[in-house]
Formats: sequence, structure tokens, C-alpha cells
Amino acid sequence: MFISIIVGSSRVDSQSAKVGHYVSQLVSMKHVLHSVKDLFPKLWDNEAFESVKEQALSTNTALCEELNEADGFIFVVPEWNGMVPPAMKNLFVICAHEFAHKPALLVTVSAGMGGAYPIAELRMSSYKNSRICYIPDHVIIRNVESVLNTPESVNADDQRIRDRLAYSVKVLEEYTKAFQSIRKNGVIDLKAHPNGM
Ligand SMILES: Cc1cc2nc3c(=O)[nH]c(=O)nc-3n(C[C@H](O)[C@H](O)[C@H](O)COP(=O)(O)O)c2cc1C
Repeated sequence: MFISIIVGSSRVDSQSAKVGHYVSQLVSMKHVLHSVKDLFPKLWDNEAFESVKEQALSTNTALCEELNEADGFIFVVPEWNGMVPPAMKNLFVICAHEFAHKPALLVTVSAGMGGAYPIAELRMSSYKNSRICYIPDHVIIRNVESVLNTPESVNADDQRIRDRLAYSVKVLEEYTKAFQSIRKNGVIDLKAHPNGM
């Protein structure tokens, strides 16, 4: 059983990568940490859909198998112009059933007071065909540059976000254990019902 942590910023040295690294230290289960920019660097293209996916699968076989085999996910997603970054949406266009009936924790990141829009966007629109199951708890990290910079917290805000992350990761781990039986009991039929309504 393992958890895949995916950083949704394609910027080098992003704050989301910083948060992803911090979160990875909280996960007690086996886990891996990736950035979307390494998973599928090419954007989906209607004409080349199959070749983009084939190419991604052949050049990133190990990564794609990892997504398939992961039992739970943590997405660390920045708010860009009030939206989820395109690389993150690209992941959900190229991959779908890799996420099916697996729990996921959303952690969103803002340099200011944002961070709510990516939560709303992912909860509203990314699950239909993927059947990903976002757990009810999520974490919004505002003023991200001022937190999670040192081994110990530096003030009450820093501590509050560390506590919230630690709690939410624990909750995700319990969902991850429990959801295994949903995928194993034979009721899921993605061949007959590949897309949601
Ligand atoms: C293209 C772009 C658009 C952004 N738009 C927003 C925004 O709408 N709301 C917000 O709170 N922060 C916005 N930011 C700032 C990010 O919150 C900031 O870069 C933060 O560090 C998270 O992004 P990162 O993980 O890529 O570093 C934007 C940043 C970029 C690069």
C-alpha cells in the first residue's frame, strides 16, 4: 500500500514543491513524491492524444505504473490566476482510471490569501471520469512563503498549518486503508462504465 504525492506546480523551486517535501515527511505509509512537470511534460493535444499518452507511457513507464499502483494521493496545487495550473489539469486529461476509487487529499498553496479556487475547481470537475475520491478534509496554505521554512515552527500560523497538515495526512491514511476493500470486492466495473455522468 502506498501514497503518491504529486506537486502541481511546473515552476522550478516552487513553493508547492517545498510544501510537497514537508508533507512527504508526515506520511507514515510508503510514499513517492513527484512533480506534474516530470510526469507528463507534454500538453494534451486532440490530434495526438494517443501518441502523447503512448509517448508518456513509454518514456515514463515506471511513473505511470506507480500511479496505477498507488492506493491514495496527495495533490499539492498552487493557485494560478484563480485556477489550477494547466500541467495539473493535463494530468487528469491524460490519466483517469489510474485514480479510480482512491482517496486523495488536496493541499492548495497561495503566496497571498488565495488557495480556495483550486480546491473548488478540483472538487467540481476532476472526478467525473477519473472517479477520484477527495476526502472531506483539505488544507489551504496561505502566505506560503512565511510557513514551513524551518524544521521547527516559527510562530502560531506556522504551527497551525503544520498541525492541520499532520491531521489531514493521518485522515487520508485511514481512508487509504479502508478504500482498498472497495476496489477489491468486485463491484467496480470500469469496462462497462468507463465514464461518469
Ligand atoms: C502564473 C501565476 C499566477 C498566479 N496567480 C495567483 C492567484 O490567482 N492567486 C494566488 O493566490 N496566487 C497566485 N500566484 C502566486 C502563487 O500563489 C505563488 O507563486 C505561490 O508560490 C504558489 O505557486 P508555486 O507553487 O508555483 O510557487 C500566481 C503565480 C503564478 C506563477
